[in-house]
Amino acid sequence: MELTKEQQEVVDAALRGENIYLYGGAGTGKSYTLNKIVNELKDAGKKVVITAPTGVAAINVHGVTINKAFGLGIKPSPNSHIISTQTVIREADVIIVDEISMVRRDRFDYIGNTVNRLNKQLIVVGDFAQLPPIITPKDKEVLSKAYKVSELKTAYAFESVQWERLNFKPYQLTESIRQNNDATLAENLNKIRLGDTNALPYLNTLVSDEDETAITICATNKEADNINNKQLESLDTEEVTINGRVIGTFKENNYPVPTELKLKVGADVVICVNDPKSDKYQNGSRGKIVSFNDRGGVIVELYGDGNHVLIEPYEWEDIEYVYDEITDSIEEITKGSYIQLPLKLGWAVTIHKSQGQTYENVNVSLQRIWESGQAYVALSRATTAKGLHLLNSINASQIIVDNKVINFYKGLSQPIVEHTEEDISALKNKIENCLTEFDTLTEETLHKIVQLVKG
Ligand SMILES: Nc1ncnc2c1ncn2[C@@H]1O[C@H](COP(=O)(O)OP(=O)(O)OP(=O)(O)O)[C@@H](O)[C@H]1O
Ligand SMILES: [Mg+2]
Repeated sequence: MELTKEQQEVVDAALRGENIYLYGGAGTGKSYTLNKIVNELKDAGKKVVITAPTGVAAINVHGVTINKAFGLGIKPSPNSHIISTQTVIREADVIIVDEISMVRRDRFDYIGNTVNRLNKQLIVVGDFAQLPPIITPKDKEVLSKAYKVSELKTAYAFESVQWERLNFKPYQLTESIRQNNDATLAENLNKIRLGDTNALPYLNTLVSDEDETAITICATNKEADNINNKQLESLDTEEVTINGRVIGTFKENNYPVPTELKLKVGADVVICVNDPKSDKYQNGSRGKIVSFNDRGGVIVELYGDGNHVLIEPYEWEDIEYVYDEITDSIEEITKGSYIQLPLKLGWAVTIHKSQGQTYENVNVSLQRIWESGQAYVALSRATTAKGLHLLNSINASQIIVDNKVINFYKGLSQPIVEHTEEDISALKNKIENCLTEFDTLTEETLHKIVQLVKG
């Protein structure tokens, strides 16, 4: 499929050099479009640095973590006056941040400050109605002090002062490509995205027993591990343990698949890479193990088309960017690799791990969810209602959307007010007159002033 019209518009804007915030509901093709943007910018001779908040998200888009690109340690970075001295950032023309909803406010302060001072193009991509940044109790304590609030509750990137300063041009993708064969599901998912619980009667018609051939997504690691281990144990075939290997350095946190992988013939697995040779499977394809070969490979029967594919050990690279002065280009250097079969037990995954994925057949358990966007992320992985099995009925208290997110998107969709010359001079007069008596400004005048200053 070609890019849709709205996707193409963003690519064109990126090539014009705009600072962009690319947003839209789940499955509208944000990641797909991001990929095109990177290719086109590179073709146009631009130096591009791709970053994401977590190691796994970064590896997904062939980028590096924000911390690594900007040379940040693990400690919070609210003192945004420090500017990155990393050469790659100084030399880059364009900096891209994916999964912006998970970027913590202090990190964004730092990015924004650096980009503003160094005058770079910044493109951020993501949906704030999906999962928020992870804030540990310690982070909370430090950030509350730094931002002088009694108890910091949220730390979204758009709460950073830098967000306003960057003057992003917002581009919204509205067409749901993931659910393009099921308009009713797409419409109801869009409703719950910003908390409209009128979608619940429809969604609750999808409550059903577990489909044994479908992946289960649930809130906690514990639930997912339990389901996977129980299912593995219940198979009476021989257990085989396959160990991953590291060459050079590769952070343990970033291992895309377990280093001690326990598998059995008959086990459900998810393949975690795209087929490097032909197009027989993609990252996220699921199947069942048929046999092990003696060269460390595994034959998997794919769900869906029933094809048998050979999965062999895969090498993931942990990359680092360096600036090459002679060629005036940003080069990727491999710091290390991780070699393992690109498989995970596939009966269950957490909602956090499922962000960004597409599943054709999925069981959803929302019993233990706790945060904004979690139910929406889980439900929106499905492509059709037929392939979406809700294990319990959903009630309104499970559709959690932070009010800050709702207000943020309300602000974005407000039409830009055009002001005439007369408007402006009348307002100037008003402001001058009122400066001595500020209290006399009406709500409406204040609103106009704010619009003017913003414009
Ligand atoms: N123009 C396109 N042509 C073909 N396939 C597309 C196109 N746009 C999106 N897709 C496909 O639609 C699905 C959803 O796209 P993608 O994952 O990029 O959406 P997203 O907006 O990033 O979703 P999420 O918010 O869940 O991460 C993917 O399978 C992707 O390959
Ligand atoms: Mg995505």
